Amino acid sequence: MAVYLDHAATSPMPDEVLAAYTDALRLVGNPSSIHGAGQAARELLETGREELARALDADPVEVVLTSGGTESINLAVKGMFWAARAQDPRRSRVLVPRGEHHATLDAVEWLARHEGAQLEWIELDAEGRIRLDALDSALAAASGEVALVTALWANNEVGTLQPVAELVALAHAHGVPVHLDAVSAFGQVPVRVHEVEADAVSVSAHKVGGPVGVGALVLARTATVEPLLHGGDQQRGRSGTQDAAGAAAFAVAASRAVAEVPLTRVAALRDRLVAGVLATVDGAVLRGAPGEGRLPGNAHFTFAGADGDALLYLLDASGIAVSTGSACQAGVPELSHVLIAMGVPEPEARGALRITLGHDSGDADVDAFLAALPAAVAGARAAASAS
Ligand SMILES: Cc1ncc(COP(=O)(O)O)c(C=O)c1O
Repeated sequence: MAVYLDHAATSPMPDEVLAAYTDALRLVGNPSSIHGAGQAARELLETGREELARALDADPVEVVLTSGGTESINLAVKGMFWAARAQDPRRSRVLVPRGEHHATLDAVEWLARHEGAQLEWIELDAEGRIRLDALDSALAAASGEVALVTALWANNEVGTLQPVAELVALAHAHGVPVHLDAVSAFGQVPVRVHEVEADAVSVSAHKVGGPVGVGALVLARTATVEPLLHGGDQQRGRSGTQDAAGAAAFAVAASRAVAEVPLTRVAALRDRLVAGVLATVDGAVLRGAPGEGRLPGNAHFTFAGADGDALLYLLDASGIAVSTGSACQAGVPELSHVLIAMGVPEPEARGALRITLGHDSGDADVDAFLAALPAAVAGARAAASAS
């Protein structure tokens, strides 16, 4: 069995979730149908929504189920932009930190190309944290013209937790709504939507052991979005037959994941992995915030002089699944925009590796990784210097 240390890409489905999902898939019925089968599906759906809302400190009426994190982010970013601009045509600016996930980057860039949105990029500090002073200045400079701020709850590459409560308070002081992408944070740290008072929060089931293709946008009662999808109007801001089985499985996965927070066992394993890497590999640098400032399951390094993709292939050949952390667009490796925004020099940014642990990770996984890494780094450095 391979050593799986790529939970941030997708997390294996626990047996309990798989059982809930397959049981639910057997049920016939469209939740919008009036007959008994439809009503049974409706009950499954709404029970799932309620459980998910509890896991997120939100109200069930605020939970809009979607086809995953990417759809949730697109609905929030585009929908909030369109709604703000419809209210006041001067509101055409979107404030976005530089280290966002591609779902956000590509959505805001689409808005700039097709809808005349003006993008204001907010700088990150050297640990990948959003600079609140820069956000404050941008909000003050564009008073009355900002449609929304959108930001990660935690960076999905380097794992840095963001100052989300302060960020929301700052934006609200300027009358600007906030969307938070909590896809990488949910199930790792408390994601309590009411406490943070965000207007919209995106989450995804497969990152917490639920099925791929299921997600949610938690949309505050006061928030307005212009829908992306038009049709039967089944949910506020979203049309399409609702996925009762997906909701049921997401709910079980979410409750299970949230019950494990704080992930002290996973954080201790991660700390042992980090200490082992730093002690055995010359030139290894831990990127992102240290200790409590990062996601408990995340370790991210750069290995100067090595190529991250070569490292990934060599580790894969040893049966270890990890990630470079950055996107690979149509098979072409891309230098991480997050590391570049943090000021990491390009030669070091090339040698990036993200290791993410989760509910099924154990000591044997860390041992296997630490045993395989030195030779893989040496191989990747030799390959880089030969090319
Ligand atoms: C931070 C973040 N946002 C959004 C997404 C997209 O979510 P999904 O795969 O459910 O579309 C991901 C998945 O990689 C992510 O890590």
